Parts: sequence; C-alpha cells; structure tokens
Amino acid sequence: MEIGIDKIGFYAPDLYMDMRELAVARGIEPDKFTIGIGQEKMAIAPITQDTVTLAANAALNLLDEKDKEAIDLVIFGTETGIDQSKSAAVYVHELLGLDPVARSFEIKQACYGATAGIQMAKGHVALNPDSKVLVLASDIAKYGLNSPGESTQGAGAVALVISANPKIMVLENNSAYLTSDIMDFWRPTYSDMAFVDGKFSNEQYILFFETVWKQYKAKSGLGFKDFEALCFHVPYTKMGLKALKPVLEEEGTTEDQKRMLENYQKSIQYNKIVGNIYTGSLYLSLLSLLEQKEELKEGSRIGLFSYGSGAVGEFFTGIMQPGYQTQLNTIQNTDRLSSRRKISVEEYESIFKQELPVDGSTIELDIEKDSAAICLAGMSENKRQYINKRTYGSN
Ligand code: COA
Repeated sequence: MEIGIDKIGFYAPDLYMDMRELAVARGIEPDKFTIGIGQEKMAIAPITQDTVTLAANAALNLLDEKDKEAIDLVIFGTETGIDQSKSAAVYVHELLGLDPVARSFEIKQACYGATAGIQMAKGHVALNPDSKVLVLASDIAKYGLNSPGESTQGAGAVALVISANPKIMVLENNSAYLTSDIMDFWRPTYSDMAFVDGKFSNEQYILFFETVWKQYKAKSGLGFKDFEALCFHVPYTKMGLKALKPVLEEEGTTEDQKRMLENYQKSIQYNKIVGNIYTGSLYLSLLSLLEQKEELKEGSRIGLFSYGSGAVGEFFTGIMQPGYQTQLNTIQNTDRLSSRRKISVEEYESIFKQELPVDGSTIELDIEKDSAAICLAGMSENKRQYINKRTYGSN
C-alpha cells in the first residue's frame, strides 16, 4: 500500500518584522541578516495567536467533510506548547469539528516533532488503510530581544493529511535516522526563552545531515542523481545550504549541483519571509518547493532532512504524484503572505513583552484586529478561551 501526503496547508500570523529594520535597531549590518543568514522577514504572532490557533488556522481550509469523517488520529508536533499536561491536539480536534472517535495527542522532540508524527501516521494508516491522520506542526520561535538568535525567530504552522493513495507525495520506507544526546538547544520548563549554543548547533546539524545521508545511501543504493530536490529543516535559509553544499560538491555532477541548488532556492521562498517555525520549518520548505517550482515531474523523488536539536535527525524521501498541483492553494498562500502588515521594532518589542495572566484572573483579548478565523479570545480561571469567528463557537 502506498501512504503519504494527501494535503498540506499553512498559516502564518498577520504581522511581520522587516529584518533590515531589526538589524539597524540592533546596530548590526543589515546584510548579515539578509545575506549572512538569509532572512528577509520574520512572522510575529500577536497575543491572539498561540500554537493551537496557528495550527487550527492552518488546517481550517484544508479539510472537507470526507476528511473530517476519516481522520481518527490527530498528532500535534510542537516545542512551544501551551500546557504541560493537556495536548494542543485536543483543542484543535474540537475547533475543527472532527469526529470524536479519534486519538489526539502531542509529541515533542524540538524541530523533529512533526517528522515523528508523520512516521507514526504512516504506521497507523498501514494498519488502518481507510483512516486519515492529521499531523500538525506549530511553533512560535522565541530566543529573546537582543539575543544572538533573535534574527532566527518566527511563527507559523503547517497541517498535513497523511493517507493511503495520497495525491501529493508517496512516502518511501527506507528512512535513515540518528539520535545523539547533545545540548545544542533546549528550553527548561521554567523558561519561555530557548537556550542555544548557536555555533555547536550549526555544526551538529551539518554532522547529522552528513551521517544520515551516508546511512541512506548505503541502505538504498541511491545518490544525488536519483533526486529532483532536497528540502531541509530551515531555522534560517542559509542553514540547509551549509549542510548540502559540501556533500553536493563532493558527490554531485555539475548537473546535480545545478538542479539541487536551483531547487533549494525554490524551497526557501516561504521560509525567507516567515522565519523559523521550528517543527514546521521543513514542511514549510516542502510547501515552498511544491508551490514555487513550476512543475515537479510525476515520479520524481524529493529528499527531506529533518533535524530536532537535542538531537534527532532523519532523512526520508517521497515520490511526486500526478496532478499534485490540484491539492495546493498557491494563490491563497502567496496572497496572504503578501498582505501581512509590517510592524515597527517598537511594536514588535511591545508584542514580545505581552503576557497572559498566570494568576487565574480574567482577560478578554481584542480579536477584531486579528484577521484569523480562529483566535485566542481570552483567559479565565487559567483556561484559554478559543473562538472560531466563522461559527462564533468557542471552547
Ligand atoms: N554581510 C554578509 N554576511 C555577513 C555579514 C555582512 N555584513 N556579517 C556577517 N555575515 C555572515 C557571517 O559571515 C556568517 O556567515 P557564514 O555562516 O556563512 O560564515 C553569517 O553571516 C552569520 O554570522 P555569525 O557571526 O556566524 O552569526 P552569529 O554568531 O550572530 O550567529 C546563528 C548566527 C544563526 C548561529 C544564531 O543566530 C543562532 O544561535 N541561532 C539559533 C540556533 C540555530 O538556528 N541553529 C541551527 C540549527 S537548528
């Protein structure tokens, strides 16, 4: 049975920060951000968006009634969840009106979470061929004002439907993966901000790619000539290139190098203007490739490199399906991204400092300014109140 990605949706908040303006405010040469790390814009989540609402908005327009009936598993990958106990998947399950006969849970392994979810989803569909699985990848990346990682923040979510006979991409079975207990990036439960050893993290990412690529080649007997494109986890758009280039220069023909580098550029168009969305970053890069490259030939192979600090890495592959474009929402996605509002550094800093009450008091948030259908409307008695403006329902 062939199992893979049947649908893919994306949501980023309304607001963005221009990286040049951020650089000037921090006394940094703007080219460092735009050329050195390769980021142009950074999505900023207003207080009315959290990881639950971002994911629910990403999935909202994706699912038809048949999907809603067939989805019996919701897996939510995040490293910036809203609760230490209840999973974000349960909230999204309700907000989307999914069938109650379902399993819903959250998983965490830094930016690898969604990949773990997809692999689990494949297993579930293999055992239950009529089932569909909704995999959500949602994060708000925060390193802190004036921190070295500040330029690699962002916010957004990707939603994927995994099913049998998928219309976008069949996922192959010969993945290569690796776990190593390292401290390159972590966030203790008492901290809202991540701790990171930036240089070490970069080195480990590159090492993990080299290792799983080698393992994959040994397992499959395939090499660059067998791939149309490789998509990477993209904390910033220069990162994937740093891992790809040395291996590509050593092993790829001139033709392979040209194809891989051209397609890499297509795969980072969205990431460049959204920023780091942690576990969704690889899938935003895949979406960028699918929507920004004119055509990927039927049967062509795409490689996906997932990296979650701490660390787990995986290289896995998929085969493009005929007519995959009919499953995409390219115009809506590009329109939404280009109609976002640019905010000043002052506004960004003030949003960054906003906090929800932690003493059980009630707060009502102004959701009128937020164009999203699903918003966080407030908090009361330590419970978040969500609203879907389309139905005026809340939970
Ligand atoms: N014009 C063009 N490029 C410039 C520049 C300028 N004026 N000034 C600096 N640069 C380049 C540097 O040469 C460097 O390029 P290189 O990596 O190709 O050598 C790049 O910009 C970044 O500069 P660097 O001094 O290394 O940045 P930094 O010490 O501020 O750290 C990160 C950058 C990404 C490591 C930091 O933002 C971070 O810690 N991020 C979070 C962790 C992370 O994303 N890890 C990745 C794995 S998940």
